[in-house]
Amino acid sequence: MKDIDTVNLSADDWDELNFPRPETTDFDRVVESAISRRGFLGGVLAFGSGAAVMGAGLLSSTSAQAQTASRFPFTPIAAYTDFTVHVPEGYSWKVVARWGDPLVSAGSGYDISDGGPVSGSDLIFGENTDGMETFSFNGHELIAINHEYTNRGTNLPAAQDGTPANAEDVRKLQNLQGVTVMEVRESDGGWDIVTDSPFNRRIHHNTPMKIVGPAAGHDLLKTDADPTGTESLGTFNNCGSGKTPWGTYLTCEENFNGYFGSTDAEASYPENVAAGYSRYGVPVDGWGYDYHKWDARFDTSKNPNEPHRAGWVVEIDPTNPDSTPVKHTGLGRFKHENAEVVLAPDGRVVVYMGDDERGEFLYRFVSNGTFAPGASTEGLLDDGTLFVARFNDDQTGEWLPLTPETTGMSAAEILIFSRIAGSAVGATTMDRPEWIAANPHAVEAYCCLTNNKNRGVKPNAGGDETPANGPNPRETNRYGQIVRWMPHNDDHAADTFDWDLYVMAGNPDVHSDAYAGSENVTSGNLFNSPDGMAFDSNGLLWIQTDGDDSNEGDFAGMGNNQMLAGDPVTGEIARFLTGPNGSEVTGLAWSADRRSMFVGIQHPGGSWPDGNGLPRSSVIVVKRDDNGLIG
Ligand code: FEO
Ligand code: CA
Ligand code: CA
Repeated sequence: MKDIDTVNLSADDWDELNFPRPETTDFDRVVESAISRRGFLGGVLAFGSGAAVMGAGLLSSTSAQAQTASRFPFTPIAAYTDFTVHVPEGYSWKVVARWGDPLVSAGSGYDISDGGPVSGSDLIFGENTDGMETFSFNGHELIAINHEYTNRGTNLPAAQDGTPANAEDVRKLQNLQGVTVMEVRESDGGWDIVTDSPFNRRIHHNTPMKIVGPAAGHDLLKTDADPTGTESLGTFNNCGSGKTPWGTYLTCEENFNGYFGSTDAEASYPENVAAGYSRYGVPVDGWGYDYHKWDARFDTSKNPNEPHRAGWVVEIDPTNPDSTPVKHTGLGRFKHENAEVVLAPDGRVVVYMGDDERGEFLYRFVSNGTFAPGASTEGLLDDGTLFVARFNDDQTGEWLPLTPETTGMSAAEILIFSRIAGSAVGATTMDRPEWIAANPHAVEAYCCLTNNKNRGVKPNAGGDETPANGPNPRETNRYGQIVRWMPHNDDHAADTFDWDLYVMAGNPDVHSDAYAGSENVTSGNLFNSPDGMAFDSNGLLWIQTDGDDSNEGDFAGMGNNQMLAGDPVTGEIARFLTGPNGSEVTGLAWSADRRSMFVGIQHPGGSWPDGNGLPRSSVIVVKRDDNGLIG
């Protein structure tokens, strides 16, 4: 037994010695309950004092998953650290489209290896694929897909450090990002772009957009070029995606702030504009794109309202190449990850949305009107109420409406500065909400909380404190978790819900505390930083990762970023695909016949997939070798 030096005890030690805490605190019980509520994690979880600590020995205890026949139609694969893609035995993959592939014949002259000329840079498949959705229209198979950002050094090889040297360089970078709509077709050789299809289209940083909804026309959205505040150019940092019940594509603007800067570091702004810049991180120097030095639209000293015209969810009709994309202010302005659209039992449209920044919030929009097939959809993504989530430690939660009464802000400012409105009502700070997916077979939704090194360390950009809380239970969270909520009354429009944690990623081979992860994390399925997520038609949850692929230390045994399948009922998780080292696996959609699964590989390392020294972000297709159904 350790001797206790009562003379040299610290105040904390003295306090603990004289007033010992119970072995299990209320907080521990909350976390224990949260991750075992549905029983699939099995066993008895033990917790240390003051943190969500699980006993290491329990990680090997018999769990429900081991006693349940697997629903996975594949044999899980190992972790890999190489520069290619791996899928299970009985499955194969092929490239469908890669950055630089021509969408029209006129784009075939664009040479990505030398950076290419600016002309033609808007006629090719853009760089760094992200969210995507498939559409079947009059016998045509269409893919709408995001191009989140661009590697400046690769695209501007003549410029030092990839820094644009002129307006043409900037225009090229602007052309390579945004969205592609393309027709694809399957032949004996696999899936390919249908070059010159009338559906093929690039939407980029200069494509005309309409701004609609309650904030459209507000003074904060007006610029010299658009005194109406209803017509803007471009969609930015297109991250996750969504699909409406009426067959349109939703593209979500995430880190839009990085495209702006100021040529006048001393420029002053109205108080509300400055507060917005601060909360959203609109910088003076930019993030290296240097648009502001060559394109005055992005220079906040000249166009202080231009950043307010980005950070929205944008609707695109992929079946009409002449349609103007629409920015829906009703869905709020923040760093949108994706937009998961579901219908309430009464037909109201519910959109779940995450704001991917440390300590920011989870949002929900509920329409006033209802959807009916064939009826007008006007206003269904704008006329309604925006809410933020509050998660209580007793595993209940509520959606807090953002209204002038609850926030003290005007209706338009609530939408333009949604983060500030969320802080005003006391929303729960989250560990970077990435994709949200709703289960088609149960009234429940899941959100990837990818990681948060600032949890318990410092407040969010709005000054909201971020202590460990129910669904975000670990300080300096480097692994991430997936929270799940079950709306009351089986109604996604209900204002209250119950929640639990579907999984806490971790490493039981390295840690014996909370960082070991929940019990459905094992040596055989190690991963970190869940990000992309979608359900298939069978109700399996597909989880994609964007994390540390060093395969060392805390991340030993995890290998490259990957895609796993999760069973929402048993909690079992199995690795299905691994990406090339350096890449993030993001974007997932299925062909109309469900025999092909399209997966995005963003920012691959090495020289994948061509082996010619130039890494190219690509969409691949995964199929069963027997051409069976794949989701
Ligand atoms: Fe673009 Fe949060 O991922
Ligand atoms: Ca993401
Ligand atoms: Ca991410």
